[in-house]
Amino acid sequence: MSLLQKILLRIYDTTGLWPVNAVQGQPGSFVVDDVFVTPFLLVMTIKPIQVSSKEFVNPKLMEDIKLEAGLPASEHVVIDVHRGFVCIQIPLPVEERGKTVYTSKNVPRGSALRVPLGLDILNEPVSINFANDMSTNLSFLGVPGSGKSVAMRRSIVTLARNNSPDDVKFLMIEVAKNGIDLRIFGQLPHLIHPVITDPAEAAAALKFLVDSIKMGQLPYKLVVTVDEVAALIAARPDTVPDLMTLVSQGRSQNVVNLLATQLSDRDTLGHGKAVFKQIHSVILGKAGNTQLSYVLGQKSGLHAEDLIGQGDLKLNSVDGTHRFAGVFTTPKEIEDLPRAPFVNRLPLEPPPASSNPPSPYWHSQGAPQPNRGGAQPKPLSPALIAESLLSLQRQVNEKEYRDEMRGRAYFILPPKRVKELGRNTELYKQVDQPYLVELYKQLLKRGVQLCLSSKSS
Ligand SMILES: Nc1ncnc2c1ncn2[C@@H]1O[C@H](COP(=O)(O)OP(=O)(O)OP(=O)(O)O)[C@@H](O)[C@H]1O
Ligand SMILES: [Mg+2]
Repeated sequence: MSLLQKILLRIYDTTGLWPVNAVQGQPGSFVVDDVFVTPFLLVMTIKPIQVSSKEFVNPKLMEDIKLEAGLPASEHVVIDVHRGFVCIQIPLPVEERGKTVYTSKNVPRGSALRVPLGLDILNEPVSINFANDMSTNLSFLGVPGSGKSVAMRRSIVTLARNNSPDDVKFLMIEVAKNGIDLRIFGQLPHLIHPVITDPAEAAAALKFLVDSIKMGQLPYKLVVTVDEVAALIAARPDTVPDLMTLVSQGRSQNVVNLLATQLSDRDTLGHGKAVFKQIHSVILGKAGNTQLSYVLGQKSGLHAEDLIGQGDLKLNSVDGTHRFAGVFTTPKEIEDLPRAPFVNRLPLEPPPASSNPPSPYWHSQGAPQPNRGGAQPKPLSPALIAESLLSLQRQVNEKEYRDEMRGRAYFILPPKRVKELGRNTELYKQVDQPYLVELYKQLLKRGVQLCLSSKSS
């Protein structure tokens, strides 16, 4: 007997209802409409005929189908109603999950500030429109591995692809995990500042933004993106008032806030809990239990504890509640994003402790945390600095050379040369390049001219 037949039997056993045409001469109470397979679920849709759909939204039936499907205790069958259809959602057997992954190919491209996030249980696109006044703030909440960062990445990629850097700009902050999820956007021309991984720098940047919007509305849409908000607040509790201002005034000041964290309760966030209280659109990943789902979603009945994790998500927004499978962003899509040879910087004061010229870690994107375990950054060799600065000067003076280097990940020196000069290429790409650009700008500002060879002059 197929699983679907077993389910029909269970429905009969539990509710006493059977489908039309199942028993000759008996009318039957519902029609099996369709069956969908998503990356996570088998979904059976039923159209009730003579009875209320409430007959099916029945915890006992959910439990019975769960037994029938042989699911582990931690997983759940969900039955709810969408567009008049009763939808029975059964987690796929573990070995079948994740075989399909939704990518850009499965969803519309979106436009302007509308971001398609995935497909719902009936394979219809689910999106959020940040142009909507009620959706200028979006939180991403749920247990580790539930798919928050992946969903956030989708929003960033879509907004960056569909909008020019003149119209939409980003500030990105991820002070935990060494910025692993956001540093991939380190060369986006839409950035108003390199991706921030240092809490002090994050606090300074947020303060700067709050001061800027106090002076008037921004002439572009600024998307403030903070992954691992709890880590930021733990390191810098003084960022809470600034986050509050951005979230509460975002709508009127042209700011969109994307904030991700695992838990938004008082134990985790302290006063920072109030920031999330003000956000009315939420992407929920799996929650630890019913109570936590209530805390995260700020209402009962969302049941994020029933989600599977890893991209099985729920959007709760002005447009209602939708369970959906999130879109996964491929590395190719990230590669295809535009790249800027120079990333903008906010005019932030370096922290008082740092020397002059400031430590590369103040100016870096994605720098290893300074002082962690006492490890100090490796110094740059004079030869590498000299050659890098000369390359930057040539890019200013020679159009052909500038065009040749533009848009490269290694936009100052090719990785081969970096290696020859004894520097770790990844460190050079992520940490040194922005620092060297800053150094060069400082020299330029002071009118210092570089000569092409140490032998000349
Ligand atoms: N939409 C998706 N489609 C397919 N797989 C996904 C999707 N979203 C997440 N995953 C899988 O789940 C993993 C964890 O996702 P993600 O990093 O977004 O979790 P997270 O909620 O940010 O966790 P943490 O709190 O630890 O940062 C991903 O590496 C990926 O393997
Ligand atoms: Mg994450």
